Amino acid sequence: MAKINTNYRKLQAGYLFPEIARRTAKFQAENPEADIIRLGIGDTTLPLTESVTSGMKAFIDKLSDKNTYSGYGAEQGSQELREALANHYQKYGVDIETSEIFVSDGAKTDSSNIQSIFADDSVIAVQDPVYPVYVDSAVIGGLAGDYADDSYDRLVYMECNEDNGFFPELPKEKVDIIYLCSPNNPTGAVATREQLKTFVDYAAANKAVIIFDAAYAAFIKDSSLPRSIYEIEGAKTCAIEINSFSKWAGFTGVRLGWTIVPKALITENSEAGELNQVWNRRQSTMFNGASNIAQAGGVAVLSGQGQAESQELIDYYMNNAAVIKQGLVEAGYRVYGGDNAPYVWLRLPDGKTSWDFFDELLQKANIVGTPGSGFGNGGEGYFRLSAFGDAERTKEAIERIKNRLKV
Ligand code: MLT
Repeated sequence: MAKINTNYRKLQAGYLFPEIARRTAKFQAENPEADIIRLGIGDTTLPLTESVTSGMKAFIDKLSDKNTYSGYGAEQGSQELREALANHYQKYGVDIETSEIFVSDGAKTDSSNIQSIFADDSVIAVQDPVYPVYVDSAVIGGLAGDYADDSYDRLVYMECNEDNGFFPELPKEKVDIIYLCSPNNPTGAVATREQLKTFVDYAAANKAVIIFDAAYAAFIKDSSLPRSIYEIEGAKTCAIEINSFSKWAGFTGVRLGWTIVPKALITENSEAGELNQVWNRRQSTMFNGASNIAQAGGVAVLSGQGQAESQELIDYYMNNAAVIKQGLVEAGYRVYGGDNAPYVWLRLPDGKTSWDFFDELLQKANIVGTPGSGFGNGGEGYFRLSAFGDAERTKEAIERIKNRLKV
């Protein structure tokens, strides 16, 4: 007799972004004349750059010719792309071997799949608020326990709030896996070297592993802030890094990312090298490699011209972030993030819930944002606006907020 994985029943509500889309579609159906501006999901809106489209088109030409056609590629990614990524890390003074880099179809899948290489009694710590994928995948995999009193009883929640600058204290108890996301989704806070060092030291001392989600690293403008956890001494023994071309180069639909599992990484019951092999085994079995066309695009992003063009995309979005941040400050909100991250995180007036504000913003200003509580309890009372929209529409959205909403 087949039985369903009942862990799915423990998931709370629907996944955040489909829920936002559902409420928005309902509002639009009821108000067909409303001119809705979407600053909710962090989805890119600018087209792929010239280098990327030429790189991908050239690869499609190869696929169109019997003499140059290629089928399955390496599950770990093309050697060319892995080498280009290894070179990319040299810019931060970080040496990564190509065999430590695993190309994937994006950070979201890797950040959840990676849990499968750890023991099923692992204790997972997450920042709160948190990118919901880390939590939901722990729930599905049976690592989160039961939901009671607004939290899962086997997860450790590391509070991130105004008082600690949205970077958590070290967990009080011993944990095994620690998710850190910097630049942070949703708060836009970026961990300093010193802050990351405290976690690297904790992880090394406790043989814990940090899963470092660096999907927004390319948005860091301040050169004193780390773009990779491997800039921190000792991190290779205790951290896995996940990154993506999605936000950096407009690949949210193309799909391409990578994960670094250093050979030096150890756990309580594994020697250096084993986790790298185990992830390799997992990917070889359950993944057939990222699209070869997408990978050709990734190589193009990493070329000199490609990086310069991607920087223009980032500058455009970061200009939006500055517009949003400044406008909200002028409108009287307490505002965070947005300086080295494409998300602006605003504190709502006392007593207003984030879903209340979602509805108010949609109804009065026809703007879609993301309610902070969708990222967990720590997000209640906050709201996230994305800088990935069109520049003119973003300006218009901020004018509407100033004119139609009272703080
Ligand atoms: C977000 O809006 O938080 C992101 O788009 C989610 C994601 O990258 O999956």
